[in-house]
Amino acid sequence: MIIQLIELCFFVCILYIFNGIAEAAKRGSSGYFNVKDYGARADGRTDDSKAFMAAWKAACSSTGAARLLIPKATYLLGPVQFHGPCKNVPSITMNVQGYIKAADLNKFRPSEEWVQFGWIDRLTLSGGGTFDGQGAKAWPYNKCPTSRTCRLLPTSLKFVQMRNTLVKGITSLNSKHFHYGLVDCTNFRATGFKIIAPDESPNTDGIHIERSTGITIDSAKIGTGDDCISVGHGSKDLFIRGVTCGPGHGISVGSLGRYHREIDVSGLVVADCTFVGTENGVRIKTWSNPPGSSSANNMTFRNIVMNNVRNPIIIDQTYCPYRKCASASSTPVKLRDISFQNIRGTSATRTAVTLHCSKNSPCKNVKLQNIHLDYNGMQSNAAGSSRKAVSSCRNIKAAYRGTQIPPPCR
Ligand SMILES: *[C@@H]1O[C@H](CO)[C@@H](O)[C@H](O)[C@H]1NC(C)=O
Repeated sequence: MIIQLIELCFFVCILYIFNGIAEAAKRGSSGYFNVKDYGARADGRTDDSKAFMAAWKAACSSTGAARLLIPKATYLLGPVQFHGPCKNVPSITMNVQGYIKAADLNKFRPSEEWVQFGWIDRLTLSGGGTFDGQGAKAWPYNKCPTSRTCRLLPTSLKFVQMRNTLVKGITSLNSKHFHYGLVDCTNFRATGFKIIAPDESPNTDGIHIERSTGITIDSAKIGTGDDCISVGHGSKDLFIRGVTCGPGHGISVGSLGRYHREIDVSGLVVADCTFVGTENGVRIKTWSNPPGSSSANNMTFRNIVMNNVRNPIIIDQTYCPYRKCASASSTPVKLRDISFQNIRGTSATRTAVTLHCSKNSPCKNVKLQNIHLDYNGMQSNAAGSSRKAVSSCRNIKAAYRGTQIPPPCR
C-alpha cells in the first residue's frame, strides 16, 4: 500500500515536472511568448496593455530569436511601448492574429502614440491581424485642420529609430490620427497590407515618413481621409510600388519647409501605383515661407494610373493653410531632378497637370514623358471646348517628351 502510494506520488511528481517544463517552454524559454500566458483577458473589454507589455519585456530580454504571439481573439489595448534594444535577441517576430482595439482618447496622455515600436533591430510584424484605432470617437477632438497649435492625436503604429523592420499582412483600421508614422528608421519594408478609414476622417495619413532611409512600401491598398503616403523631410531612398490609393489625398512629398533645420528629401521612386477618386495623385507640396532652407531632389513617378483624380500631377510651392505667408526674405524649398513618366487616366478637374514653382527659386530639371490624362467632364460648369484637360505652370520650364495630354504650358 505504502509502496503503491510512493509509486503514485513518483508518477504524479514526474508528470508535474514535465508539465512545468512544457509550461516554461511555452512561456518563453524556447523563444515563444503568448500574450495569453501573460494575463491577456482577450475579451475585448478588459485593458490588456499590461499583459502585452509583460510579454514584450520577456521576449525582448530573452536569448535567441523571439516570437511573440497574439492569438485570434479581440483585445482592448491602451498606449503601449515595445522598446528595445533587445540585446540577446537577433530577431523578434510579433505575430498578430487577433483583432486589437484601441482604448478611448482619455486613456492617452498628450502626444502619446497608440502602439509604439522603438530602438529594435530586425522586427517582423505579421500575422494577418488588425489594429483598430477606434478613430470615429476621437476625430471630433482633432482641431489640426484649422489650428496651428493643436493637440496631435495618437498615431496607431509608430516606429522610432528602428532598423531592418518588416511589416507584412497587417490591417490598420480607423486610426485616431496617422495610421503609420516612421521617424529615424533605416531599412523598413511594409508589404501586402491594408489601411482603411473613411474619406472624411481628419489627418488619418496612411504612412507618414520622416528622417528615414531605405524605405520600401509595396503591394498595399490604402484608403483613408488624408495622404495615402506622405514623405516628410529627411526621407532618403524610398521605393513605393504596387500601391492602390483611394479615397484620400494621394501620395505627397511634403509639406516641406514648415520648420527650421529640415533635412533634404532625395531618392524617391513611385512606380506601378493606381489612384482612385483621390484629391491628388502625385504631389510635391512646400510651404511658401520656410523658416530654414532645404531641398527635395531625385524623385521619379512612373507607370501610374489615375482614375477620377482631382489633381493627378501637382507641384505646389504656395502652401499656406493658416495665415498670411507672403515673405520676400524666406528661402523656398529648392526642387530639382523630378521626372513624371507614363502617367495615364482621368482627371476630375480640368487642370490635370499643375506645376506651380516658387518665384524666388524656380524648379530645375523637371521632365514629363508620356502623359495621357483626360478630363472626365464632371465639373459642373464644363461644356464644349472646356472639356479638354489643361496644364497650369508658374516659374518652371519643364522638359517634355512623347505624348502630352494635356498639352504642355506654352
Ligand atoms: C536617385 O534615387 C534613386 C532611388 O533612391 C537612387 O537609386 C539613385 O542612385 C539616385 N540618383 C542619384 C544621382 O542620386
